[in-house]
Amino acid sequence: MDFKELIEARRSVRQYAKAEISAGEMEAIVADALNAPSWRNSETTRYYAAIGEDAKKKMWDALPAFNVANSANASALVAVTYVPGESGFRDGTPTDDLGNTWGAYDCGLASSYFILAAKNRGWDTLIMGMRDVAKVKAVFGIPESQILMAVIAVGKAAQPPVKVPRKPVSEVLKTA
Ligand SMILES: Cc1cc2nc3c(=O)[nH]c(=O)nc-3n(C[C@H](O)[C@H](O)[C@H](O)COP(=O)(O)O)c2cc1C
Repeated sequence: MDFKELIEARRSVRQYAKAEISAGEMEAIVADALNAPSWRNSETTRYYAAIGEDAKKKMWDALPAFNVANSANASALVAVTYVPGESGFRDGTPTDDLGNTWGAYDCGLASSYFILAAKNRGWDTLIMGMRDVAKVKAVFGIPESQILMAVIAVGKAAQPPVKVPRKPVSEVLKTA
């Protein structure tokens, strides 16, 4: 898939067909996603991938009902976190007004690489921002200090997703 095709084909999928993903396939997606840029290459994003049925069930217990429905049959549920106090920091001191916002920025970039890498390898995704932080962290024993951002469902679309409309470029871009 060329890049234009890839970004057009990647859509949030909320209906999955049953399919299994191997640990090796998940590793390949994360290896691709590691190409994402980050503040001074700090690479503070972490992925916790539930691919087994028991682990997925625990992750579903940590999601609100509508996201459980949206991710039913997903092959994996991946919690995405970042380690605070590194991206945007030097010697433990924030370098500017944004502080840990840079970690969130990097995590968003990494997540965007992750979902595109997944699509490129034949997997659909859904980023889910609505989740119970304590319950998700308990599934993997994620350190209290890490900031949980999203849970990303990975799977095979049961039917082709519909593209939701986008703003015109003129509304979001100013050139001078
Ligand atoms: C930070 C973030 C949080 C989101 N949270 C949810 C969510 O909790 N549940 C859901 O169904 N979709 C969620 N989405 C998916 C968005 O609704 C979706 O990306 C948007 O409508 C654009 O559609 P597209 O991804 O198909 O292009 C989230 C997306 C992002 C980036």
